[in-house]
Amino acid sequence: MSLILFGPPVHFDFGARKLLPQVLASARCAKPLFVTDRGVLAAGVFKQATEALSSDLTQALFSEVPPNPTEASAIAGAQAFHAFGCDGVVGIGGGAALDLAKAIAILATHSPPLWNYSNRNPAELPLGVTPPLILMPTTSGTGSEVGRSAVIIFDNGIKAGVRCPAIVTAAVCDPELTLGLPPLVTATTGMDALAHCVETYCSATVNPPADAIAVDGMQRIFSNIRQAVLHGHDRQARWHMMMGSLEGALCFQKGMGAVHACAHPLGALGYHHGTLNAILLPHVLRLNLDFLGEKANKIAELCGARSVSEMPEKISNLIAELGIPLRLRDLGLERVRLSGIAQAAMRDNANKTNPRLMTVDLYEALLDQVY
Ligand SMILES: [Fe+2]
Repeated sequence: MSLILFGPPVHFDFGARKLLPQVLASARCAKPLFVTDRGVLAAGVFKQATEALSSDLTQALFSEVPPNPTEASAIAGAQAFHAFGCDGVVGIGGGAALDLAKAIAILATHSPPLWNYSNRNPAELPLGVTPPLILMPTTSGTGSEVGRSAVIIFDNGIKAGVRCPAIVTAAVCDPELTLGLPPLVTATTGMDALAHCVETYCSATVNPPADAIAVDGMQRIFSNIRQAVLHGHDRQARWHMMMGSLEGALCFQKGMGAVHACAHPLGALGYHHGTLNAILLPHVLRLNLDFLGEKANKIAELCGARSVSEMPEKISNLIAELGIPLRLRDLGLERVRLSGIAQAAMRDNANKTNPRLMTVDLYEALLDQVY
């Protein structure tokens, strides 16, 4: 069995952002470092997210958030934490900003290299005390606000996680922050959330509460992703997408599978995580189909396929409908990279819980098909 552990306190609803002052007060955080990306600032979403706070409280700001967070950016963020004299961290943004906020909170009280704390390091060290950390998502995708790790590209080039299951003091999820999210970002981040629900549901580890959450998340995402992409201001669709994203991360404690095992090394090359997951998902489902048992029927039912064998194609059609590329070659990836990615996927932690036992050859064949 996997460890049954569900995340931090979550304030979730339209307008939840207005609770930020009281959330900071209960965390005993008087001077937070805000971690957000430039896109969130430029779109006015940071201002909206922090509208309940006085403007002097939001002066300590770190906005150097790369699309895939790196160890160097976490070190720079921790330096800003100390330079501003902060006593807590508030991450506002998509998965990159939230994962970087986690890494900054870790490095605020731990010396680099961050690799010391990586779940891929055989000599992984346990984390000590970290400052209060409050996370507010502005996309519905990674669910990093309740996820149990921070995904980082370490200085050695490996993209992997830092295990930090208890680092988040509180999550504040306000679907109003996603109303203006552009269609393609809504689609690709939404497919990341869907991949979390599907992969954890398919993983062979035993965790019935996580399975129930995964099914609920899949249902919400399959029923609302088209509407959220086509009519971004549909409040109900946005609410369900944010809940599906939260649920995807609550359940991925079961472990994921080949989609994420491939997406991590591909992401280390700079490609967008949600886009990669969308491209990989139907192919991995086809590869795993005979190893899913009854679960294949459930996924087929939820996505509206008439049969289990039609299910991967149904998901492919959804991805095409949402305007997401269908092939790795569409991203500009060179074919020569595939063999290295296959080897890295075998070493990725997500590979350990794929329902089908994988080999480098199977990964190569999969990636070749996806290409
Ligand atoms: Fe993911």
